[in-house]
Amino acid sequence: MFLLKVDIENQVIIGISAMLLLFVSLLIAFISGQRRKLQYHQKLHALQAEQQELLRRQNSQLEQKVTERTMELSHQKEELQKSLSELKATQLQLIQREKMASLGELTAGIAHEIQNPLNFVNNFSDLSVDMLNEVKEEIKAGHPTTAMDLLDEATVNLKKISHHGKRADAIVKSMLEHSRKAEGEKEEVNINALTDEYLKLAYHGYRVKDNTFHTTLETHYDSAAGKINVLPQEIGRVLVNLFNNAFYAVHQKKKLAGNNYEPVVQVRTCKKGNKVEVSVRDNGLGIPEKALSKIYQPFFTTKPTGEGTGLGLSLSFDVVTKGHGGNLWVSSKEGEGAEFIMQLPAE
Ligand SMILES: Nc1ncnc2c1ncn2[C@@H]1O[C@H](COP(=O)(O)OP(=O)(O)O)[C@@H](O)[C@H]1O
Ligand SMILES: [Mg+2]
Repeated sequence: MFLLKVDIENQVIIGISAMLLLFVSLLIAFISGQRRKLQYHQKLHALQAEQQELLRRQNSQLEQKVTERTMELSHQKEELQKSLSELKATQLQLIQREKMASLGELTAGIAHEIQNPLNFVNNFSDLSVDMLNEVKEEIKAGHPTTAMDLLDEATVNLKKISHHGKRADAIVKSMLEHSRKAEGEKEEVNINALTDEYLKLAYHGYRVKDNTFHTTLETHYDSAAGKINVLPQEIGRVLVNLFNNAFYAVHQKKKLAGNNYEPVVQVRTCKKGNKVEVSVRDNGLGIPEKALSKIYQPFFTTKPTGEGTGLGLSLSFDVVTKGHGGNLWVSSKEGEGAEFIMQLPAE
């Protein structure tokens, strides 16, 4: 009986102990689980904080870089704008210089044209003064017939003076007319007369600049070419540039080739349907194949500094195509010469 009782007590104690043990181990397992969770959350938090800090630092670095770069860029932009405006100013200066250069040559040519009638006027008036003195002498000496003859001669002289005076006057007037015309105003002009006038001016202008220069000029003007509507000054500038380029090319060749070579510049006009062509052809140095595609580029020149701006053909091309709805062509063989053809509408 006692044994049985002890056995039961023992069993109860063991049972309770086992339950207690189970409870404690469950509790421990729960607590350690909770602790691990807590540790995990703490680590996660720390990691997130670290990442955010990293991100913040990266952001501020980036911002700083962007600010620096923006400053750099705006600085570069300012520099670029400065060089662009400098470039524009230089370009304008060069265009102006090219215009002035052709103007300078024209002025020299015009001076030469006026010089000629002026020489006549001066010589004939000196002569007339002498004659009138002679007339006085003859009258004093009682020779009225001789005096009358001398007076007749003096009258002829005075008519010559008047004629040449009028010629100089006409040259000045036509110059003034050209310069007074508002730019951008087209007018009817005889293309043959315009071409010939500018050819003479350019030729004499070139010779004034360099008196060793000489060339044969051959002209053929098509009487059918007639009057066309153009800006005379602008077309004049184109012609002067074409003539000067041709003169330069033959002059350079003459310097190289010497006596076996005779420079020739041919100028021709031609009416073709509703168009008029002006051709300027020379037997000068010609244009090398690889330069042909570049000659209309602004600033392309093969001439030494001071002798060429490289703007003549580019300006000429604009005047002919944009300004007049025409065309400008070139054909050339190196060493043999070049021909420029300007085609203008003639309605
Ligand atoms: N008739 C020509 N013969 C040979 N080369 C020419 C002729 N016309 C133009 N060129 C070439 O084209 C270049 C550009 O001409 P242009 O624009 O008038 O400028 P620039 O006369 O100031 O050099 C010249 O430097 C020259 O090399
Ligand atoms: Mg030129």
